[in-house]
Amino acid sequence: MTRQPISRRRTLALLTLGTASTAVGATGWITGLGAPRRGRLSPADTGQALGQPEVMASSSGVLDVRLTAAPGVRLAGHDTSACGYNGTSPGPTLRLRPGDVLRVQLVNRLDQPTNLHTHGLHVSPHGNGDNPFVTIRPGDSFDYTFHIPANHPAGTFWYHPHHHGTVADQIFSGLVGALLVEAEPDLQVTGDLVLLVTDTTLDGAGRVAPTGRMANLQGREGDLVLVNGQHEPVIAATPGAVQRWRVINGCTSRVIALRLEGHQLTQIALDGIFLPTPVDRDRVLLAPGNRTDLLVRPTGDGHYALISDPYDRGRAAMMGGGMGGDGSFNGSPVTLATMTVSGPVSASPPIPTTLPAPPVPQGPAVGQRRLTFAMGMAAGMGAMTFTIDGRTFDPGRDDQTVALGTTEEWTVVNTSPMDHPFHLHAWPFHVLDASAGAAPTGVQQDVVLIPARGWVRLRIPFTDYPGRSVYHCHILDHEDLGMMGTINVHD
Ligand code: C2O
Ligand code: CU
Repeated sequence: MTRQPISRRRTLALLTLGTASTAVGATGWITGLGAPRRGRLSPADTGQALGQPEVMASSSGVLDVRLTAAPGVRLAGHDTSACGYNGTSPGPTLRLRPGDVLRVQLVNRLDQPTNLHTHGLHVSPHGNGDNPFVTIRPGDSFDYTFHIPANHPAGTFWYHPHHHGTVADQIFSGLVGALLVEAEPDLQVTGDLVLLVTDTTLDGAGRVAPTGRMANLQGREGDLVLVNGQHEPVIAATPGAVQRWRVINGCTSRVIALRLEGHQLTQIALDGIFLPTPVDRDRVLLAPGNRTDLLVRPTGDGHYALISDPYDRGRAAMMGGGMGGDGSFNGSPVTLATMTVSGPVSASPPIPTTLPAPPVPQGPAVGQRRLTFAMGMAAGMGAMTFTIDGRTFDPGRDDQTVALGTTEEWTVVNTSPMDHPFHLHAWPFHVLDASAGAAPTGVQQDVVLIPARGWVRLRIPFTDYPGRSVYHCHILDHEDLGMMGTINVHD
């Protein structure tokens, strides 16, 4: 039998059969003891009060913690063999202040290599800093030291593994945690909550279910969408008492289009960084990796669902026209949590009119670059490639070489029929302009959605931290398939 070349259109159509596929991804499985059990675990904790991960806070300028990555956590009300740090998913919330030193001894009790990325922190990528090239083998540990600069903006960041090839599997298995940088002045709010959103799929035995190759190509989305490891938890509120919610999209691939029934969302920060003034929105879009800080002023008594509306990441376009309208791809609204408002009306300080937004770095842009995110077809069925500038990730190659102290303008182009969230480590950027859907926010951010067949123009100050790091698609299945490049900032 001769091998027939598969046309692009045909292969795109095949891609749409993803949910029917049972093939296991190429990377193996973390806690893969035996074949996956049939069936799916349904949540057993729906409607319980939202909990907060344990907090580990710095004192006298230092936070010294040990984080053990291991299977065996409670998720959605079940004892599962999903993974966490120190026995929980999400792991502990790390609370720091500008100028602090964070030391993490990361202990690997998984059955595959791991490491740690402090997503969004503006810290050195060098040595035992925020270095994505570190490998910690099973049974080993590694001592990280992160020096938070004294002028680091306060805000909401997060940590997760970043060992190339297993990032999607490990995050989907539950390895995430919040990381907060706090500074004066504090906002006067009644509640300050972390809402770390993840998704996963658990089989009947409480094991994280492999998602299949096709789902991985599209970017896997789990059946269970959880907030702090809980299914549709309840957030108690009293009328008028303003709460701050720090929402982190820790999903592997899912875009969250956040909406709260009966309320506007007052956005005060994006990717951890304060906006100059609060902005009222009906909906806040969070690509995987994005964060938003919100002020919520509960109105009258009642139950209000916090919802992620359907968002088409472009998979409809991948269907080649023949299968549009299949609800399994465009999804239906997902309830993340419910806010229950009751009790006497309490007055809280007015929502501030200005926020402590960090100054926008000025100075001319010297370098101009153009990066192209593309999906292509290699020979053979299903051999879809995910490339940046035509290449897949090679840790030994320098893809971008930048002189320390320069500010550059990057145009990131997406030729594919699907959105890709662009993330750059260590050096946050400003969005200057975009073809569609990613209007400039005026503040520094670290993940931006590059629309399908569109582009985004960024301004990136490389004013400090020489070293090598990476940029990639934050649909982590794509990153693991090679949609990642290296950057070397040298002095
Ligand atoms: Cu949150 Cu390089 O990733
Ligand atoms: Cu992608």
